[in-house]
Amino acid sequence: MRPSLPPLAEYEALLPALWESGMVTNGGPYVRQLEAELAAYLPARHVVAVTNGTLALQVALRAIGGDRGAVITTPFTYAATTTALVWQGFTPRFVDIDRETFNLDPVLVPDHLARDVVGILPVHVFGNPAGGHDVAAIARESGRWSIFDAAHCIGVRTSGSGSVFDLGDASILSLHATKSFHTFEGGAISAARTAVAAKVARLRSFGFDTTGDVPEPGINAKLTEPAAAMGLVNLRHLEDWIQIREERVRLYRELLAPVNEVTFQRVEARRPSVTYMPILLPNLRTRERVVRHLAGAGIQTRRYFFPLTSQFSFLPRSLRRRCPVAEEIANRVLCLPLYHELPEEQVRRVVATLRAAL
Ligand SMILES: Cc1ncc(COP(=O)(O)O)c(C=O)c1O
Repeated sequence: MRPSLPPLAEYEALLPALWESGMVTNGGPYVRQLEAELAAYLPARHVVAVTNGTLALQVALRAIGGDRGAVITTPFTYAATTTALVWQGFTPRFVDIDRETFNLDPVLVPDHLARDVVGILPVHVFGNPAGGHDVAAIARESGRWSIFDAAHCIGVRTSGSGSVFDLGDASILSLHATKSFHTFEGGAISAARTAVAAKVARLRSFGFDTTGDVPEPGINAKLTEPAAAMGLVNLRHLEDWIQIREERVRLYRELLAPVNEVTFQRVEARRPSVTYMPILLPNLRTRERVVRHLAGAGIQTRRYFFPLTSQFSFLPRSLRRRCPVAEEIANRVLCLPLYHELPEEQVRRVVATLRAAL
């Protein structure tokens, strides 16, 4: 991966205003403008910008989570989904994923709604919103909250009429440099309800309300003005960058289609995410062989997400539930290089090298 960087002059043009005003953080004009522009782009009713996607999860969990208890979640995700839950005092209850979409399997969720379950934290894996509506409905109908980890969802358009950011009580987005859209480091929380957005905004800034009181303790999760400025410039280029990434993904798929050993995630979206280029290989041994072969040719890949977060050693054994489908997918998955400056010939070289390894 490579961070998408706009022409330097465009970024520099936004800096004099910071030097003149001295307003470099604490909810300045660039953060407010970025929140408004992101709300229009995603689209989402309210957007609150924060320091990174991990703090977005933690602040959202604080704002919405209520009483501590067990939270149904997926082990097939980045570490942050699970560690954020644990840092906020919740107990992850791992439920298996759907073999085709790689997301928490909505069919399995009702069986795990034990009395101690207070909420659901699903992930739109690689930006795939499949099953999200069903999980949000299960949460709502059973009186639990749901917060969606939409870290990879920038630019995604659902097949239905709504936005992927409409689901549940809140969603979080990562604006890290490895994502298609970034603020160097950054994150955002989206919410449909004004009260949730207001609470999240308070908690991001130590918990202060408008009178200067702190009705409940918050944290410092503010996004800085230079970071927000980066987001504003990147937003101008995002659609062009996404288009190039879409072309690269199309080429990968076309070149990989005749390769029997390679299969793909089933994505349900009118415009799928192009943050990652995941493929499935037949088994762990083949995947490891492919990784080594590609690395030998100077091609970096990522085993997202391996190992499963349910296998992390900090978790007590009693929480490390077996999720056979997730285990299988984690053993077989591989993310290939994808960034907007990746030349077409490099995509061809990656596929040729992969075929040679197979
Ligand atoms: C699914 C998922 N959730 C949360 C995060 C955390 O985001 P950040 O790196 O911005 O803290 C990531 C980061 O890649 C992620 O992939």
